[in-house]
Amino acid sequence: MRVRERLVAGNWKMNGTLASARALIEGLRRELMPLTGVKVAVCPAFVHLRDVAALLSDMPVTRRICLGAQNLSPHPPGAHTGEVEGGMLKELGCRYVIVGHSERRREEGETDEIVAAKFARAHEVGLTPILCVGETLAERESGATEQVVARQLDAVLSGGAKVFAEAVIAYEPVWAIGTGRVAEPAQAQAVHAFLRRRLAGHDAGAAARARILYGGSVKAANAAALFAEADIDGALVGGASLDAAEFAAICHAAERQR
Ligand code: 13P
Repeated sequence: MRVRERLVAGNWKMNGTLASARALIEGLRRELMPLTGVKVAVCPAFVHLRDVAALLSDMPVTRRICLGAQNLSPHPPGAHTGEVEGGMLKELGCRYVIVGHSERRREEGETDEIVAAKFARAHEVGLTPILCVGETLAERESGATEQVVARQLDAVLSGGAKVFAEAVIAYEPVWAIGTGRVAEPAQAQAVHAFLRRRLAGHDAGAAARARILYGGSVKAANAAALFAEADIDGALVGGASLDAAEFAAICHAAERQR
């Protein structure tokens, strides 16, 4: 039996309509069998959170799916036009929030400092942050993978290692996101083990408990091999999470690998 309960989270990104978001939850209601030892979460766009929350609250308890958001403001409530504050997400029923996704780092100019502030803010309001780290193809090819993920992790750790007690890290190599090119299980495992050792340097207990998810072209066909690795505690799934049968199959693979 594993110490860490697996987590499979679907990052829906900026996809879908209200109708397709509802259909996806209905699909999961049909496809998802009762799961033990695996937590499942979905992270819809902000504007779909409320409807999805209502549908999830109707799911049978044995198939309970948690709600997550894809981003939050680093600030407390106040004059920040167009931003969404963590407490608002909590009020809608969110349990998780993704911080530092590579698409936001790249497209929105999110620096390590901004990501650290968002991570800290998530903790303040009682959301569990899913911290994304990962290297680009150029960084991997130049042998800088460990240096990059260490820098991204350390930026957040400097806020106090205690916050990592129930935090989640997602290793998402940028070159594997949306490309169909998945990291080899051993390649991912090596980075996961590195991240856990790095965490252990700050807080050994937190390192043993922290869940480290893999993200980047995870599908039902490759999930089991990834989950077989000792430090891969689940997945952060993009494209495949938009298909109920495919996402449910990934969740079931996580359970079989318990
Ligand atoms: P894909 O699964 O579409 O590669 O996306 C991964 C991801 O970015 C999850 O956050």
